[in-house]
Amino acid sequence: MEKLITVVVVLMLGAFLMNSYADAQRLNSCLGKKERVTRLQLYLQDLVGGENRTVWHVAQSDLTDVLPSAFGRVAVLDNLVTTGPEFESQQVGRMQGLIALADLHEKALAMLLNIVFTEGEFKGSTLSILGRNPLFDKVREVPIVGGTGAFRMARGYVITKTYSKDETRIRDVYEYNIVVFHMDDDVTI
Ligand SMILES: *[C@@H]1O[C@H](CO)[C@@H](O)[C@H](O)[C@H]1NC(C)=O
Repeated sequence: MEKLITVVVVLMLGAFLMNSYADAQRLNSCLGKKERVTRLQLYLQDLVGGENRTVWHVAQSDLTDVLPSAFGRVAVLDNLVTTGPEFESQQVGRMQGLIALADLHEKALAMLLNIVFTEGEFKGSTLSILGRNPLFDKVREVPIVGGTGAFRMARGYVITKTYSKDETRIRDVYEYNIVVFHMDDDVTI
């Protein structure tokens, strides 16, 4: 008798689980939603000086030169993005946007950036980054809040760290490890 009850319970549980799975599948296909996860390792070539400079300070506050946090400095950038840390590495696109030192006490950025892919598998697509980048941390996490093209409906995160800092203030390199969920390619308009 006990055995029979166990068998019945196991069967009911199995049926319940299969049903839930089928429901989830139906819901997904009904929404036309298919999701993919993409991981990318990219390098940001931050040209802060020299004749081909790509990062430009455009504004500052009266506190910028007074506080160690450089509060109020605003910069606009259009940086080369590569697959390797060298400037001559394979190019994939540009990182374009606005960064501001927006913390009175510590060096932390508020970032509004778009990665524009100009080469390779994701050519023509973009990823949008919006969040806080605490420069004093060795490893930083910044959210990805959207995208276009292959990265439609994107959400994810970037784990970033400083790869190299140039003593001569010409070229700094940042490593961007990206994990992003987005719609599958076969979903059309
Ligand atoms: C700046 O760009 C020009 C044109 O691409 C190039 O010839 C030159 O070598 C670059 N300068 C530096 C310092 O990289």
